[in-house]
Amino acid sequence: MSRTPKTQRTPRKAASAPSSGSTPVTSPLAAAALSAFVANDQLSLKLLETARRVAITGSIVLIHGESGTGKDLLASLIHYLGPRPQEPLVKIDCASLPHDLLESELFGFERGAFTGASQMKRGRFELAGNGTLVLDGVASLSLAMQAKLLRVIEDRTFDRLGGTKPVRVSARIIALSNVDLAAAVAARAFREDLFFRLNVVPLEVPPLRERTDDIGAIATNLLMQISDTHGRPQLRLAPDARAALSAYSFPGNVRELRNMLERAVVTLPASQSQITFDDLPRNVRNASAVPQSKQTLEELERDYIAEILDYTRGKKSKAADILGITRKTLLEKRKKYGL
Ligand SMILES: Nc1ncnc2c1ncn2[C@@H]1O[C@H](COP(=O)(O)OP(=O)(O)OP(=O)(O)O)[C@@H](O)[C@H]1O
Ligand SMILES: [Mg+2]
Repeated sequence: MSRTPKTQRTPRKAASAPSSGSTPVTSPLAAAALSAFVANDQLSLKLLETARRVAITGSIVLIHGESGTGKDLLASLIHYLGPRPQEPLVKIDCASLPHDLLESELFGFERGAFTGASQMKRGRFELAGNGTLVLDGVASLSLAMQAKLLRVIEDRTFDRLGGTKPVRVSARIIALSNVDLAAAVAARAFREDLFFRLNVVPLEVPPLRERTDDIGAIATNLLMQISDTHGRPQLRLAPDARAALSAYSFPGNVRELRNMLERAVVTLPASQSQITFDDLPRNVRNASAVPQSKQTLEELERDYIAEILDYTRGKKSKAADILGITRKTLLEKRKKYGL
C-alpha cells in the first residue's frame, strides 16, 4: 500500500487547479463539474490535468478504477470540459441489463420489430446525439454485444432493431470499468480488438487509500453538501475525526466516505456542531486505533529512554524520575540497550 505523507493542506478545488495546455473554463456547466470534482492529492491533480487535456480532443476514453473511486464523476467532467458540453450526456449501465434489453436500449427499435414494439423508440446512441455516451460496466458485455459495439465504433453507424436505414453515430464514447480489461482480454472474456478500440486514452482512477491527501479535502466538500441537504449547514469535522478518516483504508472508496458522513450527519444530536471521532463507524475508529508502528516493545522502550536521556541532557536521576524507574534500573537498561 503506497501512502503519501499526510500534510494538512487547504483543500484545493479542481476549479483552481493549474491547467497548462487544457481548456479554459468558459461554460458554467464546466465550472460546476470542475467544482464537484475535488482533487488535492498529487495523484488526483495529475489525473485531473490529463482529463482536462483529453476532454477537448473528443476521443474515446476508457476509465478504470475500483468501485466508488469516481469514474462516473470523471466521465461527466470530461463531457462538460469537452467540445460539446451543451449536448446530451447519456449513460447506460451495461452490467445491469440482460442482452436483449441492452441491445434495444442501446440501438432502439422500429415499430413492429418484435412483439410489443408498438412504436419506434430511439436508443441511447441516438439520444446522446452530438454529446457523450457513457458505457458503464463494459467488462460485463456479452461477446455478442462486444461484436456489435465494435462494429458501431468502426462504422460509426448502426441499425435500429428491425430497421434497415443506418443511423449515424456522432456521440463521443466514454467506457467505464472496475475490471481490468487487459486481464479480461487475457482471460478471453473480452475481445482484444474492442479493447484496443476503447483503450485509446486510458485513465486510471486510483483507490482513495492511495491518495490520502484527498481524504480530508473530499470529506470537507462532501460534508458541506450533505449538511446543507439535511438542514445542518454549519457542521464541521473535528480534528480527531479528520485524523481517523485519513488513517482508514476505505475499501468502498469515496462512496463509502460519502455514506459514512451522511450517516453521521443524520444521527448527530442537534446540540453538536462537529462530527467527532466518536461519531464515526466502529471500523474507522478501530482502524485508527491500530498502531501504525511496527516496533517491538523493547525497541519502543529503548527509543523512549534515549529520548528522555536526551531531554535531561544525560542527567540520570532526573531521567529515572521521568521514566518512573530507579536510578539503578536505568543504569541496567542503558547497559542493555547500549545507550
Ligand atoms: N474526486 C471527488 N470529489 C468529490 N466527490 C467525489 C469524487 N470522487 C467521487 N466522488 C463521489 O463519490 C461517489 C461515488 O463516485 P462515482 O459514482 O463516480 O464512483 P464510480 O467509480 O463510478 O463507482 P462504481 O464503479 O461503483 O459505479 C459519488 O457520490 C461521487 O460524487
Ligand atoms: Mg459508476
